Amino acid sequence: MTQELTSPSPAPQAPGTGRGPGWWRDAVIYQVYVRSFADSDGDGIGDLRGARERLPYLKDLGVDAVWLTPFYASPQADGGYDVADYRAVDPLFGTLQDADDLIRTAHDLGLRVIVDIVPNHTSDRHPWFQDPELSRQRYLFRPGKGESGELPPNDWESVFGGPAWTRTDRGDWYLHLFAPEQPDLNWDNPEVHTEFEAIMRFWLDLGVDGFRVDVAHGMIKAPGLPDIGHGAQAQLIGAQVLPFFDQDGVHAIHRAWRRLLDGYGDAHGRQVIGVAEAWAPTAERLALYVRPDELHQAFNFQFLNAPWQSDALRSVIDASLAATASVGAPTTWVLSNHDVVRHTTRLGGSLARARAATLLMLALPGSAYLYQGEELGLPEVTDLPDEVRQDPAFFRGGRATGAAGPGTDTESAPDGVAAAGGQDGFRDGCRVPLPWSGELPPYDFGPGGSWLPQPADWGGLTVAAQTGDPASTLELYRAALDLRRRLPGLGDGPMTWAPAPDGVLAFTRPGLLCTVNTLGHDVELPAPGTPLLSSAPVTVDDATGRLPGDSCTWWAI
Ligand code: BGC
Repeated sequence: MTQELTSPSPAPQAPGTGRGPGWWRDAVIYQVYVRSFADSDGDGIGDLRGARERLPYLKDLGVDAVWLTPFYASPQADGGYDVADYRAVDPLFGTLQDADDLIRTAHDLGLRVIVDIVPNHTSDRHPWFQDPELSRQRYLFRPGKGESGELPPNDWESVFGGPAWTRTDRGDWYLHLFAPEQPDLNWDNPEVHTEFEAIMRFWLDLGVDGFRVDVAHGMIKAPGLPDIGHGAQAQLIGAQVLPFFDQDGVHAIHRAWRRLLDGYGDAHGRQVIGVAEAWAPTAERLALYVRPDELHQAFNFQFLNAPWQSDALRSVIDASLAATASVGAPTTWVLSNHDVVRHTTRLGGSLARARAATLLMLALPGSAYLYQGEELGLPEVTDLPDEVRQDPAFFRGGRATGAAGPGTDTESAPDGVAAAGGQDGFRDGCRVPLPWSGELPPYDFGPGGSWLPQPADWGGLTVAAQTGDPASTLELYRAALDLRRRLPGLGDGPMTWAPAPDGVLAFTRPGLLCTVNTLGHDVELPAPGTPLLSSAPVTVDDATGRLPGDSCTWWAI
């Protein structure tokens, strides 16, 4: 820490301080991918000052909270998910004082702040890994197989492609479920637990309102680290319990963290939360992460992966609601993030579908996560030249090596790495810096350039270009978030399906009926009320409503 910091700024107080109905139950949380949001110093990389300066934009957009992706000291082997010092801000992104300033400004604006915590692995530059003795206790080292230990200890594959083991100069091997620069921690060692609890307290003392827990399903490995006996393991992630993911043992860690979060919140009159990034094979197994004594929320990737098809959407929504209801937790909804193809592109390159999917998501009960730039309708960038790419998966599993890996699996999104419709399934294309204003790159992203090139035709997609245009995607998001705030019960209230023609979904929420036409053509139905908001122009003649293809409409009833 370079500077003495004063006491944390108060989080927004209403509603939901202390225990009782939690603010997170229906919160709309906006993901700021820090390096691509706003750059204050002209190095082409977004930073905390840049993000702080743009917070009024997020307040005006109408979100409740901001989730900041890792800005900690890191060699950036995996966009900062390789942390070398969990209590320091990387100079790329600013200083600890900048983090403190950002949290204060957010709170002054009535926005809560969630930060990432990365407990499954550290950077290989972390002091623990650098120390030959400590590292043997705090990471997962094993002797190799074969006559002279020349083979990896088991057949596990890295999520980014290639073996999950790297051999050291000493001849043994260490486990890394992600890049070799991200060694997995040994959670059988109590010192690891103690350290992460201390890290959480450090950031809570600085005023954060919660943590997004990276790879929350990964910390515990099956005893004996058994072989899987199946190649292409990336395709099994999220489809079945693996010896390295979704092991029952992770829940004890989440229980301990819930005790910490509740205890801290009670002592300070705050509600601080944990959000699991967990890939579980079923909605029921995902719900285990949000039992009353575990984390508050878990990302619902089943919804993100659902095809644009009414029956599939309905069954995912039903399964998600039923599973979380069984443990009393709110459901979360998410369509895009920094690991998957932006939903405009994923849903068939159709902005109409993306807008409809968003209105559907924001009408569902529970909390919703937005990923920066989706409110502008940004598409995935799919023509990045190889020399600018930075996703480690690209270098380990894709065309760079020719080996099979997550990038070749375009049908599913194992651990968020791959998804249909992007540039070979890799993740740089959803991380291109935001366009704020102007006709030319960097579109006011900052005073310099941008770390990934922005398309030349984004001038019409900038915040400035869309502001005030009622037909723009930005104004659609603003209107939806405004209505969501003003309609009591729209967040965490009941939902009932209503009759609808094939290909159409209809459901009621308190004061509202939502229709979604997933077909590519207009559908007529008896007008259920007065249109409040629609993702595409809806017409009502006499008593008949005409829903445009790929549209969602909120009706006042
Ligand atoms: C993060 C990814 C990251 C991986 C390893 C994921 O869940 O969202 O961006 O590469 O964890 O930390």
